[in-house]
Amino acid sequence: MTEEAYSPGLAGVIAGETAIACVDQGKLLYRGYPIADLAENATFEESAYLLLHGELPNQLQLKGFKDTLDRYRPLRGELIDALRKIPAPVPMMDVLRSMVSYAGHFDPTNGTDSDDLRERATWLTAQIAGIIAARFRLLNGKEPLDAKPGLSHAGQILYQAHGTAPDDLSAKLVDLTLILYAEHDFNASTFAARVICSTMSDLTSAIVGGIGALKGPLHGGANEAAMEMLQQFKSADEARLWIREALAGKGKIMGFGHRVYKNGDHRATILERELRKLAAQKGQGEWMDIYDAIKDPMVNEKKIYPNVDYPCGLTYYLLDLPLDLYTPLFVASRVTGWSAHFIEQAANNRIYRPLSIYTGPAERAVPPIGSR
Ligand SMILES: CC(C)(COP(=O)(O)OP(=O)(O)OC[C@H]1O[C@@H](n2cnc3c(N)ncnc32)[C@H](O)[C@@H]1OP(=O)(O)O)[C@@H](O)C(=O)NCCC(=O)NCCS
Repeated sequence: MTEEAYSPGLAGVIAGETAIACVDQGKLLYRGYPIADLAENATFEESAYLLLHGELPNQLQLKGFKDTLDRYRPLRGELIDALRKIPAPVPMMDVLRSMVSYAGHFDPTNGTDSDDLRERATWLTAQIAGIIAARFRLLNGKEPLDAKPGLSHAGQILYQAHGTAPDDLSAKLVDLTLILYAEHDFNASTFAARVICSTMSDLTSAIVGGIGALKGPLHGGANEAAMEMLQQFKSADEARLWIREALAGKGKIMGFGHRVYKNGDHRATILERELRKLAAQKGQGEWMDIYDAIKDPMVNEKKIYPNVDYPCGLTYYLLDLPLDLYTPLFVASRVTGWSAHFIEQAANNRIYRPLSIYTGPAERAVPPIGSR
């Protein structure tokens, strides 16, 4: 490979093949189905099944998948004990990273063929949701709640976190965000998971690696960072002043921009439409004024569009979800995409081992310690 082939951040580099998802003319497709179609006509569970199994489930298959999720929801006592021991200020994403790793020591599934991996992925999906909800309750001085079989995955997380059955709107909107977050081809965390898989490591290690990569504000952490930004404004005027200064200072605005979408993130458009309805329904129109005060100059002057994390932050906020649940909710969904990629990589593997351009000192002799 020549130095001319070097592309910082691997921008524009094709690093593998996938049949799981693609962005086609600005539209995200999961196994050929446009995300807007799935958002309109399917649930998160159906989308997760599609990613893991390759096809949408029929009613029987969907029931089987949901039953398996429910069977795997209970957290072992060892996990609850460990959750109690992690100091309260530890960020939720760090807790999740440690706990998924710990849960892996009690993995009830066996084997490494594709079916076994799908079973393990379903177990991890159920456990991750339970860990998030249990940690949230413990932080609020409450005991973790048992799952309520029959709820949707989104409804389950809300129920286990808050202790009351979620209203339809909240469950539906969280479900929508889970569909939108489930998969996005070779993004940073998925690539990290595939690299881990490529060494013939295990699925849990790949998911832990994915969580570590997703946490950063340039990736999944952007939904929290975007809402943190919005929260500092009491009015749209304040937001307008702030964005002027931020743009003059060449600051990065969280929730905007994307490596792949240069004319707007299709997922953001879908979610923003629902967010506007939610804000109107909740009588919180002033939040949309603040939202637009940041968005308009970004789009009109900088031509940098919101990504899905921008509307997602405010959607979760208006649903009264605490800030540090936002990125963990992303994990609760993306674990399915990571797992699908792991299964695909494992089935047709070659270890990832790129090259680098060396910029250190030329060869030199080790001087005796006394003369250093
Ligand atoms: C997503 C992101 C990491 C993509 O990075 P990237 O592909 O390396 O970015 P690009 O090469 O497209 O950036 C092109 C230009 O737009 C600018 N830009 C990109 N995103 C920007 C943002 N959010 N705010 C301000 N400027 C931004 C870059 O600084 C760059 O300007 P320059 O050419 O003057 O240096 C980047 O847009 C970003 O940091 N966004 C904020 C974090 C975020 O929302 N992440 C979630 C992604 S789903």
